[in-house]
Amino acid sequence: MIAPSILSADFARLADAAESVGTADWLHVDVMDNHFVPNLTLGLPVVTSLHRATGIPLDCHLMIDDPDRWAPGYAEAGASNVTFHVEAAADAVQTARAIRAAGALAGLSVKPGTPLDPYLEVLREFDTLLVMTVEPGFGGQAFLPDVLPKVRLAREHVRAGHLRLFVEVDGGIAPDTIEAAAEAGADVFVAGSAVFGADDPGRAVEALRTQARA
Ligand code: DX5
Ligand code: ZN
Repeated sequence: MIAPSILSADFARLADAAESVGTADWLHVDVMDNHFVPNLTLGLPVVTSLHRATGIPLDCHLMIDDPDRWAPGYAEAGASNVTFHVEAAADAVQTARAIRAAGALAGLSVKPGTPLDPYLEVLREFDTLLVMTVEPGFGGQAFLPDVLPKVRLAREHVRAGHLRLFVEVDGGIAPDTIEAAAEAGADVFVAGSAVFGADDPGRAVEALRTQARA
């Protein structure tokens, strides 16, 4: 699945951005709070409006402090998938259950330097694992290939445990990096600058999809 990140779109024309990537599987929405990461983007009111403006399922990636408190609200606002960072959560399992109870898929995200091993057991409480392939906070950064062993570990764990879990990669995904991520076992690919930096975002989505299957 391809999930274009609106972080690289024109924030004054988000509905147009969504329309330009009509064949996208998910629309990736980066929520940043100036605390968990040194950048500030958008919050619940914008997610509510986007949900009204597009039929593409919203994939909310919360890069915020205290997700335990805020994450379920994004499910109530219409997000299809709500992912929060394990580094910021006080009780990841409880928060996953609250997100699911509010009607969305629950996702756990790990920064590039955060090991996966301590969290393998809780993954059965989640629908999505988002492995960051750049430091969270900004679009347009270079893909970190050192993270690929973690993607591989996640895929092996999913296979061995027969889990139903999406393995999503986010950061620096472009035509020249998506194959390595797919080969390592990712099945959801977030791409910001590679999609909204292209002349034709819709065609960029299709090109990434083809490349991921190569
Ligand atoms: C970074 C965000 C990403 C970002 C990716 O913190 O989580 O979703 O939009 O942008 P690119 O694809 O340009 O690396
Ligand atoms: Zn993201």
